[in-house]
Amino acid sequence: MRVLGIETTCDETGVAVVEDGYRILVNRVLSQVPLHEKFGGVVPEIASRAHVETITRMVETALADLSIPLPPAGRVDAIAVAYRPGLVGSLLVGVTAAKCLSWAWGLPLVGVDHLHAHIYAGAMADRGPGSSPPIEEDFFPAIAMVVSGGHSALYLSDGWTRHERIGSTTDDAVGEAFDKAAAVLGLGYPGGPQISRAAVAGNPCAFEFPRTLLDSDSLDFSFSGIKTAVLYASRGQNAGRGAPLRPDVNIADLAASFQEAVVDMLVAKLRRALRRQGLRKAIVGGGVASNLRLRERLDRLAVEDDCEIHYPDFRLCTDNGAMIAGLGCRLLEEGRRHDLSLDADPVAAR
Ligand code: KG4
Ligand code: ZN
Repeated sequence: MRVLGIETTCDETGVAVVEDGYRILVNRVLSQVPLHEKFGGVVPEIASRAHVETITRMVETALADLSIPLPPAGRVDAIAVAYRPGLVGSLLVGVTAAKCLSWAWGLPLVGVDHLHAHIYAGAMADRGPGSSPPIEEDFFPAIAMVVSGGHSALYLSDGWTRHERIGSTTDDAVGEAFDKAAAVLGLGYPGGPQISRAAVAGNPCAFEFPRTLLDSDSLDFSFSGIKTAVLYASRGQNAGRGAPLRPDVNIADLAASFQEAVVDMLVAKLRRALRRQGLRKAIVGGGVASNLRLRERLDRLAVEDDCEIHYPDFRLCTDNGAMIAGLGCRLLEEGRRHDLSLDADPVAAR
């Protein structure tokens, strides 16, 4: 089955065609970073307008890459779209485009949960970029951890389409914490790649940043404390974001210490979830899953706790249409589909 996947949950316009849920035929991602970077974060109105301006061309280009005509005349079997969670204006553009194409081309439509798709990305490229079948259903049960710009979440997963959330974001999401810390350090947007680049030359023990683990049994995440700690360490105690950087501040040390503290928290939460559920398998997805230090530490966790941890291929960590098409295919195989009443839903499912 060939599925066209559409992703517009935040600031990337993604369009992909995926065959049988894992073979990526085309995966086009248009980043809006140049539009948002001067604001230090995503501006929702700008994001949705940019999706409106580009979505039709992105679909046309992706299909043209495969020499598929318009309408696709039997060469695309269904349309999948990320319909939750995300910025509502951005989501609406993708959902509306998908519904229009489904109606105009007479193809089935399925709405995909964007966070579940980040988990599915771990399956798609796990055994080589798009060339071989994904992790099989018998891999489950497993713990899934999504670490993205808008969410930090832990799931007890019973299959690619069955996820029960057991931990979530209480304040800033982890990617958001990277973005805000980078802004405080004057490193630019998006912050994750900038922080990890700056951290290479820094000492991760230079600053003792707080590791907020909440209650001893909590699987929820909190990153607002460390964000404020970076602000005070770089600009002075109780300083506001407008205060100047301290002249003696070592940005590389701050970046490395911040990254280490965040990674410590993520590793601790994943370990806690695995132990609590008595499981030895995990999948990690979302933009922050491209962080090399996080992968190093998770690899160590896998050895220490004798467990198996999978991540997506780097190009599938951040938002993309391929993971939407891939999971969409699995949902369609289970007989799930939506009609034209499908609506954008900004809120994460429980
Ligand atoms: O999953 P994603 O594309 O968007 C959402 O669904 O929100 O994740 C984007 C986030 C951004 O916050 C970005 O700073 C972060 O992923 N990110 C990273 C790295 N690459 C991207 N964070 C840490 N280290 C990285 N290498
Ligand atoms: Zn995402």
